[in-house]
Amino acid sequence: MPKVTFIQPDGSAETVEIAEGLSVMEGAMEYGIPGILAQCGGGCSCSTCHCYVADEWVAALPAPADDESGLLEFAWEPKESSRLTCQIHITPELEGLILHVPEQQI
Ligand code: FES
Repeated sequence: MPKVTFIQPDGSAETVEIAEGLSVMEGAMEYGIPGILAQCGGGCSCSTCHCYVADEWVAALPAPADDESGLLEFAWEPKESSRLTCQIHITPELEGLILHVPEQQI
């Protein structure tokens, strides 16, 4: 299973294995990653699964769909690298993906 690393605002990091086909958010929930709330359960309607994708990984991800882009405007301090983790689905190509958890959600 591909490994995904979540880096917290304090610099601490946790690497977990997420099954292909699951979303990054689902993996984060499974492992209880702090700071990812996912209040809508993956419905792309809350933005509380927001993370910043590490710079070196931004180009590796498919561009966000319009509904994700629109919702990201309401995320806490969105940046160019912002994504909703419920909209990132794990593939073998994402082995080693690195995400930064924001200081807060919304
Ligand atoms: S879990 Fe609500 S937008 Fe991702």
